[in-house]
Amino acid sequence: MNQDQLKQIVGEAARDEVLQLAPGQVLGIGTGSTANCFIDALAPHKAHFAGTVSSSNVTTERLLKHGFKVLNPNDVASLPAYVDGADEIDPAGHMIKGGGGALTREKIIASMATKFICICDSSKQVPILGGFALPVEIIPLAQGVVTRALQKLGGQVSLRLAKNTRADLNQTPSEPFVTDNGGWILDVAGLRIADPINMESQINQIAGVITVGLFAKEKANILLVSTATGVERIIL
Ligand code: 5RP
Repeated sequence: MNQDQLKQIVGEAARDEVLQLAPGQVLGIGTGSTANCFIDALAPHKAHFAGTVSSSNVTTERLLKHGFKVLNPNDVASLPAYVDGADEIDPAGHMIKGGGGALTREKIIASMATKFICICDSSKQVPILGGFALPVEIIPLAQGVVTRALQKLGGQVSLRLAKNTRADLNQTPSEPFVTDNGGWILDVAGLRIADPINMESQINQIAGVITVGLFAKEKANILLVSTATGVERIIL
């Protein structure tokens, strides 16, 4: 199975998982290529849910295109589940997220949900987090101060740049990537995150940090992971 097929089968497994929830509730929906497979698989069953809460503008667009109702998180008290992918997940369910830049809204919506259902293929499972550069969303004017603080933690820090959307002009991206919240993202390589809870709280305390893409407090509760032989369901 190729990567796309692995994403598709885990998206379908997540659809089957959430269809076991009592009907008429609101579901939290993540961002990324795996979350997209889930959205597409769930679309024919959208009537099962009273609505969705979305973790990014791109996810909102996709949900609306499929005819899902998208609600403002401020109008929703709690969610039975939040379904999203991850860039890395450790055996306890702690994750690195934010490869797609949606980490802040993802963390807010994850915090509203009773359970976090993480969907990924087995390449995302790691014994210790940190192989994937840790995304940290910041207030732009704090780039210098946050960079220095993250370097003190042992990371190599780089500012995420906007994707080249004009490949035809062969432009090199030089503008910062700007999040849905107007923030910038620092990607921190070279961290070996043996204690994710402690690292999350240390980075949260740096002035100028909006959100760190370490989901230790908001960890996964259920992992659906696809391999060449099918999808495994792991309770964490
Ligand atoms: C977006 C995320 C995604 O969940 C993460 O990057 C995984 O994406 P994909 O499913 O495309 O591999 O955190 O901010």
